[in-house]
Formats: sequence, C-alpha cells, structure tokens
Amino acid sequence: MTVLADRFGRIATDLRVSLTDRCNLRCTYCMPAEGLAWMPQPEQLTDDEVSRLVRIAVEQLGVTEVRFTGGEPLIRRGLVGIIAAAAKLTPKPKLSVTSNGIGLDRIAISLKEAGLDRVNVSLDTLDPARFHTLTRRDRHSDVLAGLRAAAEAGLTPVKINTVLMRGVNDDEAPALLRFALDHGYQLRFIEQMPLDAQHQWDRHVMVTAEEILAALEPFALQPDDVSRGTAPAETWLIPGYTDAAGQPARVGVIASVTRPFCGDCDRTRLTADGQVRNCLFATDESDLRKLLRGGATDDRIAEAWRAAMWGKRAGHGIDDPTFLQPARPMSAIGG
Ligand code: GTP
Ligand code: 5AD
Ligand code: SF4
Repeated sequence: MTVLADRFGRIATDLRVSLTDRCNLRCTYCMPAEGLAWMPQPEQLTDDEVSRLVRIAVEQLGVTEVRFTGGEPLIRRGLVGIIAAAAKLTPKPKLSVTSNGIGLDRIAISLKEAGLDRVNVSLDTLDPARFHTLTRRDRHSDVLAGLRAAAEAGLTPVKINTVLMRGVNDDEAPALLRFALDHGYQLRFIEQMPLDAQHQWDRHVMVTAEEILAALEPFALQPDDVSRGTAPAETWLIPGYTDAAGQPARVGVIASVTRPFCGDCDRTRLTADGQVRNCLFATDESDLRKLLRGGATDDRIAEAWRAAMWGKRAGHGIDDPTFLQPARPMSAIGG
C-alpha cells in the first residue's frame, strides 16, 4: 500500500467527502438568503462513483476514517446506501457524518443500521428566535429532535459544533455547554474561518479561542489527560461532570485561526463533483471525476490522488499577507 503522503511527512488517513453543496438552512455566516449557484446534477458524482472513490481510498490509500459532509449530507438521497457500501469495506473505516441535524430524527436508526458510527451536529444557539435569525429558517426544534434521535440510535459520542459570533451568540457559551452536559453531548466551539461565500469574514469580529475559554471560566476547565493526536479540537476536562458513557466530560475548542494545527493534519477531501482538495484552504484541486468518467483504472485514480496530496502546503496561511480565500465556499467543501 502506498499511502497519501505529503512532502512535509504528513499522511492523510482521514477522508472527508462532501455529498452535496446544497443545504436546507441559510446560516448568515455561510451563504446568502437566496442560496448559491448550486452544482448542476450531472456534475455531481453518482452514488456508485462516490462509493468507488471511497473504496479506492480505503483499499489502496490507507484511509481509515471517512466523514460525510455537505452542504447538508442528509439531503443526499443515496446517503444510507453510500454508508452501507463504505461499511462493507475491509478494513471497515470509522464512519461519521457532520450535519445540521434536520431530518436526523427520521433517519438516525437507518444510518446506524447501515454502519454509521457517529454524528456531529451544528447548533449555534439555544434560542428558537435567534436560531431563525441566524439560519433564516424556523427549524430549531428539528435540530434538537435530531440530536436526541442520534443519541438514542447510538450514534455516539454525539458532538455539537458551535460557531460563536460577536454580538450574535457569544453570550451563550456557558448555556450551550450546560445544555450539552445535561444531555450527554460533547460540545466544541469553533473559531470562524475565512470560508464564507460572501467573503465577509473579519478577524476582529471572530471570537477567539482565548475569549471562548475566558467565557467558560466558571467551569474551571482542566487540561485534558488524553493526547489530541491529529484532531482539530483541543479538549478540556470539566470537573464534576461525566458524559453519556460515564467518562469525564470534555469540551472542545477548534482554534483553526489563532492556534493552527496544520502540522498534524491527516485529512484529504473530496468534493461532491469529484475534486480532491489537499487542504480546506487549497486554491487548486485535482479532478478525479474526469478520470472516473474517462475509464481510468483504480490504480490510475489512486496515483492521481497521491499526486494531489503530495502538493499539500505546510499550512493554511491565513496570517500571510498574500492569503487568498479559496474560490469554493465552506458549503461546497464540507468543512
Ligand atoms: P471529529 O472527528 O468528531 O473531531 O470531527 P471534526 O471536528 O474533525 O469534524 P467536523 O466536521 O465536526 O468539523 C468541525 C470543525 O472543524 C468545522 O468547522 C471544520 O471545518 C473544522 N475542521 C475539520 N477539519 C479541519 C481541518 O483540517 N482544518 C481546519 N482548519 N479545520 C477543520
Ligand atoms: N468557519 C468555521 N466553521 C464553520 N462552519 C461553517 N462555516 C464555518 C466557518 N466559516 C461550521 C458549521 C459546521 C461545521 C462543519 O463547520 O457550523 O458545524
Ligand atoms: Fe489541514 Fe489545511 Fe486544515 Fe491546516 S487548514 S489542518 S493543512 S486541511
């Protein structure tokens, strides 16, 4: 097996697959109210094409974890079948989904039965009115139902992703953490990254990891005793609390901007139209769909994927004066 290595010695074993660029919410920090120019259907990989690329990644490139993202992955009709196909691979990869939670109440059990291990759900506020303002849709109760269903189906640990925004929801950090602790979910606060479709990200508006930790002072967080490995989230122990499995409860902070973790990156990405991205912030992509549809062998596709990863840059470069936000927005990369 020749793995997905880059010239800095990192090896990508974690594949993030975006299954659609569409979403049923319109979060203000992600896309405009009218949505975006969605990817035309013929350009999107078919379910079989996705499954073939996932198989090549697992069987020929050493990928051990596959996360399905979007846009919103639950709106992809073939999702259960794609997960079932991935779960049949040897060795079986760890399988997860990152979702906004809408519709999870109806599909959680089928996903679990298909072989999904766990889900991460985005939730930025506990207030339904604020949720409506933030996402431009009145679906707060659907997300809460989705979280409950995921936990009941055993898609655990259920993690919540929260992006804090100054003057919008940054007063809610302690309440969100209490909510997560009460329900046995693991909360992670995320620093906002320059990936919004409208290019309105502003470093001074971003709520930093330092500010997040200051807001959580009442919890007397302790440094974690478990190594973070290659995970984006730094975690802290919360004295006096346990999680749903009876383990010490933790909270995470994903500080991509102020505490970058690129040196330990183990991720490779596939977009819904079959492009390999070697970094969330990559400005170029490698076209696997063209190879697939041109009749390329598995070996040829694997080779192209390796070449794409070899060119990965050392880091995202957000602090470089020459930094350019990628043309593809977050919703079409999958985070
Ligand atoms: P876990 O395995 O559950 O820890 O998942 P995760 O945190 O890697 O994935 P998730 O999809 O829940 O993403 C949470 C946040 O981390 C999102 O804002 C992602 O964009 C961000 N994230 C994930 N991978 C990377 C990465 O490689 N680089 C950066 N900068 N951010 C990332
Ligand atoms: N920066 C950081 N995280 C973001 N997300 C969406 N846009 C951004 C951004 N610009 C989050 C979503 C979701 C996860 C996949 O990424 O809220 O939880
Ligand atoms: Fe990896 Fe790029 Fe994310 Fe850095 S920004 S951790 S290099 S994907």
